[in-house]
Amino acid sequence: MPQLAGPEYDANPYPALAWLRDNVPIQRVELPAGAWTWFVTRHADAVAALTDPRLAKSPFCANEVFQQAKLGLPFDNRSSLVHNIINQDQPDHGRVRKLVTSAFSPRRVERLRARTQELADELLETIAGRGEAELIADLAYPLPTRIIFELLGAPQEHIDEFHKHAAVIDSSSMLAQDELRVATDGLDEFIADLVAAKRRTPGDDLLSELIEHQSAGLISADELTGMAFLLLVAGQETTVAAIGNTTLILLRRPELLTAVCRGDLSISAVVEEALRFDGPVQNATWRYAVEPLELGGQRIEPGETVLVSLLSANRDPAVFTSPDEYLPGRPERAGLHFGRGAHYCVGASLARIEVEIAIASLLRRFPGLELALPFEELRWWPSPITRGVYELPVHLGR
Ligand code: HEM
Repeated sequence: MPQLAGPEYDANPYPALAWLRDNVPIQRVELPAGAWTWFVTRHADAVAALTDPRLAKSPFCANEVFQQAKLGLPFDNRSSLVHNIINQDQPDHGRVRKLVTSAFSPRRVERLRARTQELADELLETIAGRGEAELIADLAYPLPTRIIFELLGAPQEHIDEFHKHAAVIDSSSMLAQDELRVATDGLDEFIADLVAAKRRTPGDDLLSELIEHQSAGLISADELTGMAFLLLVAGQETTVAAIGNTTLILLRRPELLTAVCRGDLSISAVVEEALRFDGPVQNATWRYAVEPLELGGQRIEPGETVLVSLLSANRDPAVFTSPDEYLPGRPERAGLHFGRGAHYCVGASLARIEVEIAIASLLRRFPGLELALPFEELRWWPSPITRGVYELPVHLGR
């Protein structure tokens, strides 16, 4: 049985995942504090798990040992964590999700496209003339962070304060509970202040719209806070890593980088295949059996936990021809990088816009871009959630 953690796995999890797919596609994996999960690596089982309503999302459906290990819900009944759609089931999930998806209206997303382009150009202007850049700090981090702030209508001058808390939550797998608690408290307070300010002065933004829904009795105050919390966290770290991973894939394939610069390769095909080939979200979030069920020949009992490996499903040779090759424009469109079923990513269209604009603008401006250190020296996040590098130093070229 291969290691499923550690620096070697973080740098390249794919051989271990391929072994599991071939040998134990539903593997029991031990977790801290006596807890464990079923780890799902085949595409067909992943789709079955993501779409089966007998696998619930509420952390209160987990068995006692899992709940006590504080994995699904680090803190008891914290409203920002309990009352957000990623931890909700029907009917609450459908009711709240409908309001959020309608807030991601085509008009609002199109407006964000224009704003994303402006911001990308501004950020690239700042690094032009430097010769060198660190693309996570200089582009991949600030772009989605500023966009999610604009979407919610949060003041940009509060980004540093947000970052102080979010950076801790992003690396939560390595932290003691009390550190995580302080950071979550900080983010809760940040959101409470933001909501209070929006109530006083509403604007044409998603948060003001959600506040209206709350006043109309369509969502509770906790659901409002939970949604703001989820959008800030889910809409940021994922997209940062997606921009980093996509850039890195192209830096390692100069012929493709040149093809993009010449306009011979569509940017949307490049990004979609990058999300399949080396996506930013390793695993879907926890799911808990509420009834006995069978998954890939394995019986799952009520209260047991299932973790779906999106990275592995996206490299399953049963679905993708030559899955370990990066082939933009490949015909198979079955990638699970944005999930599947009721919890499919709400921000998928916005995320695609952000990554496409970031990469296209970067290559337009710096066609001679090169990695500034050997690939093997890059440091990968040791997170079970996000797959991405800490830093991406580059030579900007002529
Ligand atoms: C490339 C970037 C992104 C990727 C790969 C990604 C991936 C995912 C995945 C896999 C899920 C489903 C998780 C599960 O079923 O357990 C999800 C859910 C979600 N995502 Fe994204 N995401 C990205 C960007 C965004 C952005 C930009 C936003 C918001 C602005 C966002 C908001 C959400 C929300 C709210 C959910 C929960 C949906 C629900 O539970 O109904 N995501 N995302």
